[in-house]
Amino acid sequence: MKPRLFSTVRCLRHENPLGLPRSGAPPQIPRMQRGLPQKRNIKDVKKVIAVSSAKGGVGKSTIAVNLALSFARRGYRAGILDTDIFGPSIPTLLNLSGEPRLSNNNQLLPLSNYGLKSMSMGYLIPESSPVAWRGLMVMKALQQLLHEVDWDGLDILVLDLPPGTGDVQLTITQQLVLDGAVIVSTPQDLSLKDAVKGVELFKKVNVPILGLVCNMSGFICPSCNTSHEVFGPLHKIREMCAKHDIRLLGDIPLDAKICEDADRGKPTVVAEPEGQKAKIFGDITREVGGMVGLSS
Ligand SMILES: Nc1ncnc2c1ncn2[C@@H]1O[C@H](COP(=O)(O)OP(=O)(O)OP(=O)(O)O)[C@@H](O)[C@H]1O
Ligand SMILES: [Mg+2]
Repeated sequence: MKPRLFSTVRCLRHENPLGLPRSGAPPQIPRMQRGLPQKRNIKDVKKVIAVSSAKGGVGKSTIAVNLALSFARRGYRAGILDTDIFGPSIPTLLNLSGEPRLSNNNQLLPLSNYGLKSMSMGYLIPESSPVAWRGLMVMKALQQLLHEVDWDGLDILVLDLPPGTGDVQLTITQQLVLDGAVIVSTPQDLSLKDAVKGVELFKKVNVPILGLVCNMSGFICPSCNTSHEVFGPLHKIREMCAKHDIRLLGDIPLDAKICEDADRGKPTVVAEPEGQKAKIFGDITREVGGMVGLSS
């Protein structure tokens, strides 16, 4: 049997985006739009954390996948859920593709690599097909990703959020029980201002901010071996964290190797498990794990 989300996608391609019968009843309005939503847990998952930033391209997916892999390396049953419907990155980052199978109870079965389970919209649509959906369709897909995946018992699930503070972020923060959020930002003002917006969103819905990861903090020049603060000085991020009472979890350098490893589907903590950057990710997961109450 085809996964339902997949058949939803097929419907879209055949001009019936909501998959309703032609003569059909009107689409259901999501509960969120009618009143205060009830927060739900993700079935079979002990802890859920979101990796977020209102700013695009700051490294959310890179950080999310390395944190999730770090949890897996430390022996936890870990998963990553790519909630970026329009621009899923996890299939590339984990070098995974193909259509997920369905479990006996009709749930999507995650795809795994490097000991990490994953689910992404990218497994359900062909790589080259852009998703051009309106709100309801996106919400339907998101609900399926959130509640119709058979994780089969996870200690921790990392959510890789899309950029912005739109429908997907609102649904996740308002409807899911989250154990906390990790914010990602570069030290640049442009990024920091958006990071603050993201922080405020989580605070409004009482999701604990676990801390901030500063990404692309300094570039070590391979020729002169000195550090260049391409996106601005680290003290800006320290000041921002102090001002908003946010813990600085760690800083990841700007390093071409991170890019290369991402593109070949072997994220840093798998490509260089004993390296300095993997150690930083390990330290961050230890701290985050402690904060959300994961037993070590
Ligand atoms: N520390 C780093 N050093 C070098 N390149 C990096 C680093 N972190 C991320 N990148 C690269 O920057 C680009 C953006 O990263 P990524 O896709 O993780 O960001 P994102 O915030 O998830 O983006 P989007 O908002 O589109 O979801 C990618 O090419 C990635 O490989
Ligand atoms: Mg991303």
